[in-house]
Amino acid sequence: MTCLSGSELQLWRRKQLVGQQGQAAALDWLLELEAGLPWSELQASYLHPETTLQLHCSLQRLEQIWQQHCQQQVPLQHLVGRCPWRDLELEVSPAVLIPRQETELLVELAISCFAASAPPKRWADLGTGSGCVALALARHWPDSCGWAVDCSAEALAVAQRNAAALRQRRGAALQWCEGEWWQPLQPLAGQLDLVVSNPPYIPSAVVDGLEPVVRDHEPRLALDGGSDGLDALRLIIESAPQMLAPGGWLLLEHHHDQSAAVAELLGAAGLQECRQQRDLEGQLRFAVARRSNP
Ligand SMILES: C[S@@+](CC[C@H](N)C(=O)[O-])C[C@H]1O[C@@H](n2cnc3c(N)ncnc32)[C@H](O)[C@@H]1O
Repeated sequence: MTCLSGSELQLWRRKQLVGQQGQAAALDWLLELEAGLPWSELQASYLHPETTLQLHCSLQRLEQIWQQHCQQQVPLQHLVGRCPWRDLELEVSPAVLIPRQETELLVELAISCFAASAPPKRWADLGTGSGCVALALARHWPDSCGWAVDCSAEALAVAQRNAAALRQRRGAALQWCEGEWWQPLQPLAGQLDLVVSNPPYIPSAVVDGLEPVVRDHEPRLALDGGSDGLDALRLIIESAPQMLAPGGWLLLEHHHDQSAAVAELLGAAGLQECRQQRDLEGQLRFAVARRSNP
């Protein structure tokens, strides 16, 4: 435990931000997550600099993490090993994509699809990574059965640890399946009421030009969608009509410029009620469609 005054912390904070323009929010995120200093307390200390603040770790430890982030472009989430997402706090590592804020909307979209009907009995999350989407859905629909698929054993290990850490709360039965997209779900063909996926969708050449903090530290398997970014989306959409239950929903996240191509793939697969949804920045980021229900 470290105790210091608001003015001492402000001095320290200003020192860390020298030459780090635009990084203030990241530093405050670190103060909250690693040192346990809520953002609201940090803000209040500007008005009352004489207030004593308590940090859960030393300034030296924070400085060490911050320098590694700034100098080697290591994501802060990797350095602290955790990432808050929706109402969950998840373990993350270089084996999984750091859950993004826009993906929180994929969960909201899934929930909204069932607002006027019974919850899904069986659903799946393809490319589960940290398990963020699957764990959020499992908590929302505690009486349902969920299947979370990933081809990366390392990612599934992280997801299962996240599930174990949340086990004290009630949630749906979740099965973790190692394999390629639909392959582990073949016994469920025609029975899935909902399938969500945030697959790798960034075109390979764009991945090469991403910021080092992403390109050099997050798994390429989670980012690279092939030459046009649509490799995984094509595979997922092609088999969706066989795997979904009649009337079942398919919800996909995609790159900001893929909405027309994804709509075309959904239409070509015979899926219906296709619509696009924007993310918080106004980009067309999600596609929704469903299998017909004769
Ligand atoms: C963009 S990440 C999404 C992770 C998580 N669902 C999220 O939203 O943060 C895509 C995930 O798909 C997985 N993946 C890539 N290729 C796959 C394949 N052929 N079969 C199954 N999963 C795959 C990756 O390992 C990665 O975890």
